[in-house]
Amino acid sequence: MVAASGSSRDGWSSRSAFILAAVGSAVGLGNMWRFPAEAGANGGGAFVLFYIFCVLLIGLPILLSETLIGRYGQASAPESVRKVAEDSGKSKHWDILASFGVLGAFLVLSFYCVVGGWVLYYIGVFAQDLLATGITGGAFEGRPSGDIEALLPDLFGNAGLMVGLHVLFIAITFYFVARGVSSGIEWVATWLMPAFFALFLAITIYGAFTGAFSEAVSYLFTFDASKLTGAVMLAAVGQAFFSLSLGVAGMMTYGAYVGRNVNLAGTSGIIAGADTAVALLAGLCIFPIVFAAGLEPNGGPGLMFQTLPIGFQSMPVGSLVGLLFFVMVFFAALTSSVSLMEAPTAWLKGKANLARPAATLIVTIAALLLGILAALSFNTMADFQPFGFIPLFEGQGMFDVLDTVTSKILMPIGAILTALFVGWIAERRLIDAENGLTGGLEKFWLFLVRWLCPLALIIILIVGIFPSILGE
Ligand code: TRP
Repeated sequence: MVAASGSSRDGWSSRSAFILAAVGSAVGLGNMWRFPAEAGANGGGAFVLFYIFCVLLIGLPILLSETLIGRYGQASAPESVRKVAEDSGKSKHWDILASFGVLGAFLVLSFYCVVGGWVLYYIGVFAQDLLATGITGGAFEGRPSGDIEALLPDLFGNAGLMVGLHVLFIAITFYFVARGVSSGIEWVATWLMPAFFALFLAITIYGAFTGAFSEAVSYLFTFDASKLTGAVMLAAVGQAFFSLSLGVAGMMTYGAYVGRNVNLAGTSGIIAGADTAVALLAGLCIFPIVFAAGLEPNGGPGLMFQTLPIGFQSMPVGSLVGLLFFVMVFFAALTSSVSLMEAPTAWLKGKANLARPAATLIVTIAALLLGILAALSFNTMADFQPFGFIPLFEGQGMFDVLDTVTSKILMPIGAILTALFVGWIAERRLIDAENGLTGGLEKFWLFLVRWLCPLALIIILIVGIFPSILGE
């Protein structure tokens, strides 16, 4: 009944390989770009505290549920769900929850690689600047800060470059996913994640000494209850899900490659803890530099790509720090994009009985084409708003549509169904044997999965689709 590990199936070579790969999936643009932007746009401390609360009470229980389903099934996400359902004597059609997920991962992949392309662009710009101004100077020495702020809109305006960088980023992702789990995805995680952490700590410590560290700490950790509005809470939950790679079958897919001897509860705790630590540290890396340059924290999506580079300008050795910063973000983004590509690839491979490289290629080409539409929505196709007649998508080009569909609809639905499935549908005996929890902790987890997660997520889904309910 239970699939044996250690068969000829490709899988992680060790528990630490799984942890690195799963942390690699979780830690990405979500931590470095989205978290500080969201925290800054939502007033700092109130958002951060509620975010931690969401990770612990909603994110972590779902993360355990997803890895558990994957490990039990040892197959692509929909097949794993079907196996759990059938072995519990329930309808196999529950696999729809993971089919939504696979679709969601595919859609996220398409626009994630567009942003990955921007990161590649900044690596190029900072490398050029380092060569031009030398190692000792700040970034873009002697140039007005307006030039730096213009980098992003200039890139957006250049349709050919946007598309080219997107294609380059997705091609790199393709290369590693096509090589397989143990020799491609695991290789990326075991080399790039340690490199990421080393660069990240170095830059954060350097920034702490040269920047406005204490100002950043008080901004991120001073809790002001009046700032905790419904919109802020909604943003925090959405961010927690995106950052933990939940709701779109990513962690189910990775869980399928985990050996039977691994304790999933403990491992999930490590993954969630590492991801949250990186998000908080990203705030402590970025805001001191931003504050030291006297800039505002609420730059939103422009925080990492515009505000921070201006901060690098007034920082000693700023051009080198800037280059290393974007190299590090690239490492984090790549370990996430391979996980986003792996979910649909594993599904297609099983469904159509294809060899891995062929399945990966088909997924890549489809995501590449969709991503081109997303890239062009910043320039030549800005007016192409195919879903603009629906209030939720009013005024949105393809990039924003993909973001909204995945984060406001597919992720919450995937997570609600996962929680209900594990909490109420799957047979207790089967869940108990997999989760690695005992006693009171197990009861608490079950309570969260049965009640708190579905209820909280249903509210999030409804308010996300009809924001006017909040009346803010
Ligand atoms: N968690 C990643 C990040 O923070 C993004 C990501 C990777 C993701 N895999 C995922 C998001 C699966 C949702 C689902 O950048």
